[in-house]
Amino acid sequence: MKHKFQFFVFLTLAVLIIAPCQGKTSGNSLPKVHVIATGGTIAGTSTDIGYEAGKASIETILQAVPELTQYAELDYEQFCNIGSQDMNEAIWLSLAKRVNQVLESGLYDAVLISHGTDTMEETAFFLNLTTHSPKPVILVGAMRPSDAEDADGPLNMLKAVQTIVSPDAVGKEVMCCLGGRIYEAGSAFKNDTHSLNPISEVPADWHLPHNANTGFTIDSLEELPEVGIVYGYGSNSTVALEALVNAGCQGIVFAGVGDGNLNQATLDLASQAVQKGIMIVRSSRIAYGGVYTEGGEVDDEKLGFIASGSLNAQKSRILLMLALTATHDIDTIRSYFRHGVSTQQVNE
Ligand code: SIN
Repeated sequence: MKHKFQFFVFLTLAVLIIAPCQGKTSGNSLPKVHVIATGGTIAGTSTDIGYEAGKASIETILQAVPELTQYAELDYEQFCNIGSQDMNEAIWLSLAKRVNQVLESGLYDAVLISHGTDTMEETAFFLNLTTHSPKPVILVGAMRPSDAEDADGPLNMLKAVQTIVSPDAVGKEVMCCLGGRIYEAGSAFKNDTHSLNPISEVPADWHLPHNANTGFTIDSLEELPEVGIVYGYGSNSTVALEALVNAGCQGIVFAGVGDGNLNQATLDLASQAVQKGIMIVRSSRIAYGGVYTEGGEVDDEKLGFIASGSLNAQKSRILLMLALTATHDIDTIRSYFRHGVSTQQVNE
């Protein structure tokens, strides 16, 4: 009888000790996701006139979605807390370095970045060109602030985590999650100022899975070459173009009219800029169709311009900045725009 009682006590103790261990073991088997918070409306809080982006902490945002722990073991860092209109090259560079560091550490299976929607496509495209791991990277945002009754951030956050813990997400482009949908960095662009589903896709000429063998190397970079954008419109003034040339830009991108067209005064000034060594990329203010040398009105070969292909002006600017860190050979840069970037091209 005594032995039976001792055995019962032993069994009870064993269950009490082992049970929490088993709970931890199953937790440990969940994919590990590192969350890097940068701000945006997803971290916005309401004000008298509307809301202010980049106010709530990532801890608060994650606490609003307790279901996340069913899918992943998460930890987080508050990298910055800004509206994405304040994103800049310095933040992009340190963010890309941080993502590479996290994924190379071997401690995590994926990185999730909370981000404003306004420039999300640019950050995603930049990271796609500069982070080198097959492990998934996703940017997630929201159109309503975190304290709105009908906030869209929590569902987007859940969808983003569910997406990156799937084996299907490995080896893909950097992704964006908005409106409960997933988009690839190369084709995503924001085309609605208010919709809960503000991202559309444009067919991309090339895709660049951000795996270990592709992309630019930014490890030793502290800044990027200055590249500006000039917007095209009827009766285009050359004032903005002149200002960028005089400011010492190494590259200028046109969000031209129609098929990347420029009026004669702008064309003349732009071809003079080429003579000074400034790289000129013709993109368009039109979202779809792209800008190509073949079949257009502008003789890019003769004038020394580069056609953007499917890239819009803001993504063209990012590719041109990175291209100029690797080469000043116009044919190589033309090929980046037309056919994409490979390790061989970048490291030539
Ligand atoms: C921002 O881009 O930071 C503000 C707007 C948004 O997140 O939707």
